[in-house]
Amino acid sequence: MLEGETVNLRVVEKEDLPLLKEWRNSLEFTGQYQSISQETMKDLEKQYGELVDEKWFFIEKKDGTKIGTISHRPVFKIQEIGSALLPSERDKGHCSEAVKIIVDYLFLSKDVPRIQAHTDARNAAAHKVLEKAGFKKEGTFRKEYFVRGEWRDSCIFAILREDWKEPRILTRITGCKLGEC
Ligand SMILES: CC(C)(COP(=O)(O)OP(=O)(O)OC[C@H]1O[C@@H](n2cnc3c(N)ncnc32)[C@H](O)[C@@H]1OP(=O)(O)O)[C@@H](O)C(=O)NCCC(=O)NCCS
Repeated sequence: MLEGETVNLRVVEKEDLPLLKEWRNSLEFTGQYQSISQETMKDLEKQYGELVDEKWFFIEKKDGTKIGTISHRPVFKIQEIGSALLPSERDKGHCSEAVKIIVDYLFLSKDVPRIQAHTDARNAAAHKVLEKAGFKKEGTFRKEYFVRGEWRDSCIFAILREDWKEPRILTRITGCKLGEC
């Protein structure tokens, strides 16, 4: 488990897939800026079984309540992240902390030069979260996503290893220094 100050990231296990299916098939959970899709357990089990260098995490409160998801996946030699929170848990700073934790984790555990995120160009909350974690907007792609019946522009945000410099949450909370844990 990756421990933060107010949230932890816990790897999704196979027995968690029914909850994940419920969330991913919910239009409220995916929100107005993510593509709609409906997946069966078989679809999800297949994806889960084929994960390579990709991880799905639950964002959990300190009492263990699951409130959202955050994931990373390789794109060539770099990593891309994505996240979503239950509507009732948004705007409380949880995703901002989760993104900082996963950035620390990826730069500490993998030899990647950058971590990136794709967003709907209108997703102001996602942009705020990424900027607070040190990501910079690098550009806009016109009509890249088909979301809720229309083609939409997307943005790419990234943080470079040299922008990150050192862990902001992970080793500070757990008390272990780079190379010692
Ligand atoms: C995007 C999302 C993950 C952010 O999670 P969150 O836990 O609510 O984010 P945080 O509370 O850490 O931060 C959100 C910030 O955006 C701000 N914000 C929220 N809505 C906003 C809006 N419409 N315009 C401008 N800023 C907004 C909040 O005030 C907050 O800023 P602050 O910390 O300075 O107060 C969440 O909104 C979500 O799950 N959306 C649906 C799924 C989704 O779009 N995922 C992103 C895919 S790239």
